[in-house]
Amino acid sequence: MPDKVLTNFDLEKMVDTSDEWIQTRTGISKRRIISDNINVSDLAVEAAREALLNGNLNIADIDLIILSTCSPEMVMPSTACLVQQKLGAKTMPAFDISAGCTGFIYAITVGTQFIETGLYKKILIIGADALSRYIDWTDRNTCVLFGDGAGAIVLGEVEEGYGILSNYLAASGAGANLLQIPAGGSRVPATENSYEKKLHCVNMNGNEVFKFAVRALPQAAKAALKKANLTIDDVSYVIPHQANTRILEAAARKLKINSDKIISNIDKFGNTSTASIPIALDELAKAHRIKVGDILLLVGFGAGLTWGANVIKWSKATLSN
Ligand code: ACO
Repeated sequence: MPDKVLTNFDLEKMVDTSDEWIQTRTGISKRRIISDNINVSDLAVEAAREALLNGNLNIADIDLIILSTCSPEMVMPSTACLVQQKLGAKTMPAFDISAGCTGFIYAITVGTQFIETGLYKKILIIGADALSRYIDWTDRNTCVLFGDGAGAIVLGEVEEGYGILSNYLAASGAGANLLQIPAGGSRVPATENSYEKKLHCVNMNGNEVFKFAVRALPQAAKAALKKANLTIDDVSYVIPHQANTRILEAAARKLKINSDKIISNIDKFGNTSTASIPIALDELAKAHRIKVGDILLLVGFGAGLTWGANVIKWSKATLSN
């Protein structure tokens, strides 16, 4: 996480909002923001180094880097290549995944295929975002929601019956207009006009995204559990994308799961986009709250629209435990 903390009280001085509104409507009280001299690859490298350390691994042990982000450092090259270089690797393959805030779920699912086919043995998977660089700091509808951060895991072989039990992915481009950064790509390249119209900033229909999230999160959770022949009662912890406490509460009701089992750190970090799931997983693991054999349900939703889930059985060999 970046060091710089931006509280709701700081935001009160920037836009017409209040700590009370933000806490009641979103559950967020503060978030971390990168400073001017830091980039998203720096956050990613920090997270990657810690994941390697926790697994007693060196970068030389890794066969592939997959980085999920919706705030890449540049349109090209991929942020994964920048991270590969900063980690001191020479020719290891590296690529980005763009799947909105569901990126980490997509990255795990893609990584799982390489492990299952035996093509790669150990994959560094990173979720890193710095949406603060794409926020219109005069738009109270969006600027109160997002924070910056990164998280990482190493995916590798574990004993039979453990590890990733199932994956479920979905997307609906019909909802692409609900959450976007319209300019900066090839459709609307940067011009004075695009800059003045703030087309390089996050543009969101909050109400529609909210409704979508409340539907998508339980649907993805149930679909992934079904594929793993499990039910919600088997789940030790749900680690959802951290977007809004009210979304998580609604999902808990729909899934009929005790809200104690739903991991949330949104109050202190806000919505860190594709980094939110690995950050929450890291906190849970470091608090030694996960036991061998526990079933974890990772579930996300985001721009695209995209949504998905992974079911994991925590194993002895699970790294970063
Ligand atoms: N402070 C004070 N008032 C505000 C603020 C603010 N920061 N933001 C909006 N309001 C006002 C609105 O202008 C509106 O006023 P009006 O009634 O006079 O028009 C009123 O509050 C209610 O606005 P709503 O949009 O209806 O508020 P809602 O309860 O829906 O909360 C929110 C808005 C928090 C954005 C919610 O819709 C939400 O969380 N949506 C999901 C967003 C999300 O998850 N996005 C990320 C997806 S993941 C990814 O891929 C990045």
